[in-house]
Amino acid sequence: MKITKICCIGAGYVGGPTMAIIAQKCPQIQVTVVDLNHERIAAWNDADVNNIPIYEPGLSEIVKEARGRNLFFSTEVDQAIDEAQMVFISVNTPTKTYGKGKGMAADLKFIELCARQIAKVSKSDKIVVEKSTLPVRTAEAIKSILDNTGNGVKFQILSNPEFLAEGTAVQDLLQPDRILIGGDTAEEGQKAIQALVEVYANWVPEDKILTTNVWSSELSKLTANAFLAQRISSINAMSELCEKTGANVNEVAKAIGMDSRIGSKFLKASVGFGGSCFQKDILNLVYIAKSYGLNEVADYWEQVIIMNDHQKRRFSDTIVRKLYNTVSDKKIAFLGWAFKKDTNDTRESAAIYVADDLISENAKIAVYDPKVTRKKILADLDYLESRSAEANAAHILSFQTAYETCEGAHAIAILTEWDEFISYDWQKIYNSMQKPAFVFDGRNILDGPALEKIGFIYQAIGS
Ligand code: UDX
Ligand code: UDX
Ligand code: ADP
Repeated sequence: MKITKICCIGAGYVGGPTMAIIAQKCPQIQVTVVDLNHERIAAWNDADVNNIPIYEPGLSEIVKEARGRNLFFSTEVDQAIDEAQMVFISVNTPTKTYGKGKGMAADLKFIELCARQIAKVSKSDKIVVEKSTLPVRTAEAIKSILDNTGNGVKFQILSNPEFLAEGTAVQDLLQPDRILIGGDTAEEGQKAIQALVEVYANWVPEDKILTTNVWSSELSKLTANAFLAQRISSINAMSELCEKTGANVNEVAKAIGMDSRIGSKFLKASVGFGGSCFQKDILNLVYIAKSYGLNEVADYWEQVIIMNDHQKRRFSDTIVRKLYNTVSDKKIAFLGWAFKKDTNDTRESAAIYVADDLISENAKIAVYDPKVTRKKILADLDYLESRSAEANAAHILSFQTAYETCEGAHAIAILTEWDEFISYDWQKIYNSMQKPAFVFDGRNILDGPALEKIGFIYQAIGS
């Protein structure tokens, strides 16, 4: 089947950038991204491309090039599904907050709604592509919904997990390490796989396009994220030991990373990993393992999360301890709120949990993040339901610049590794703070000895 029209349901961090690149690289294909959220679609269509809802380096230029040519953003979900030969499902799959599997299993209600909607409006055969990260065997559920519509329309379900990381989405999409496509092993399934291979082949070398069965593809995404997160929890576990023994975790990471069997990436000790994927996917893996009675497997992976929670808590505990065991009414400046640099996404960011701990100790938190609004910060805290929204608002201070944010503070905590923090005038910041002036570098990005020379008490992770 030659694909000329693609529809993507979900205009978020995955669907938006992925479709922008497909549209840019395949001018012969019309790509329509739909979402129920009118505000989000309006932002994608904003005349000023700098106002698109997702910040990713290089993304606005690509949207500018393709939008209105063969890339469209719309809330007309039914029409876009009906017209397309291929429908990507790229909606969010948060961890369940209710019922069986609460706090662990993926909530598939958005996926099921999509499947039902596709079933309802389709009048011609379609290839349905799972883009969202899903528990193994979700394709089966989607297939069952689609095959029982009784209108004779045939569907093929493919799993095509997205491996892009936020902050580097454009680069990751343009030059992926691999593209993974899982499909049915029967002939029709293989034809569907081929149709999607042809889309990617417009810019990805064919030897990087890997095809598997559906279940391997679904499980590979969870496995990749579990392995990556496990490396961070492993090095973070060592960071605590380094602090006790006089070793330096950066030196340890370098020493082990040069072993080609280990490799140097994803060994940066930090205040803890965040983001929409790692925690969610591991919990999901744990839940699946438990549901098959594989308790040892479940416990093994759950420890990655336990270590990460410990690392976040350890950071807030250290701040309180160093500030003479009380932060009550003290101004603590947070530099960074996003879960990593170069994104405005804050889902599961360590900053949220550290702030929550410190607010419980009655601290006043002044936050500066170049891409995150006060509204978002308060929404993140309110979501934890630790206290009333009024109480959160009373404890969070907002300023226009990092310098104002740090003025009069007892301590600065670095929560995100934004490049601009490194080049600040740290002498000027020091002069404006309470003394002794503390810096807790949750990302190990600042020059510790230089800060100590100015007069700061500097505390990094793992040294
Ligand atoms: C190890 C370290 O690799 C080496 O750097 C250190 O100096 C000494 O300890 P060794 O125990 O000799 O070396 O062998 P290694 O190749 O690491 O294998 C250890 C075990 O893991 C073996 O039983 C091997 O069969 C097993 N293994 C290794 C796997 O099961 N799967 C793998 O992918 C790799
Ligand atoms: C991740 C996967 O990398 C990506 O392949 C998958 O598709 C989605 O999930 P993402 O969550 O966007 O991507 O960001 P990633 O770069 O993996 O970082 C996740 C978290 O780990 C961030 O909070 C980051 O700061 C932290 N991290 C990463 C570390 O603390 N140390 C490291 O060495 C690397
Ligand atoms: P991700 O990081 O997985 O892309 P996001 O939350 O950024 O997650 O994006 C998912 C998008 O999917 C949201 O904008 C949400 O409004 C949209 N969405 C969820 N369910 C549906 C649905 N049934 N139809 C259309 N859009 C949906």
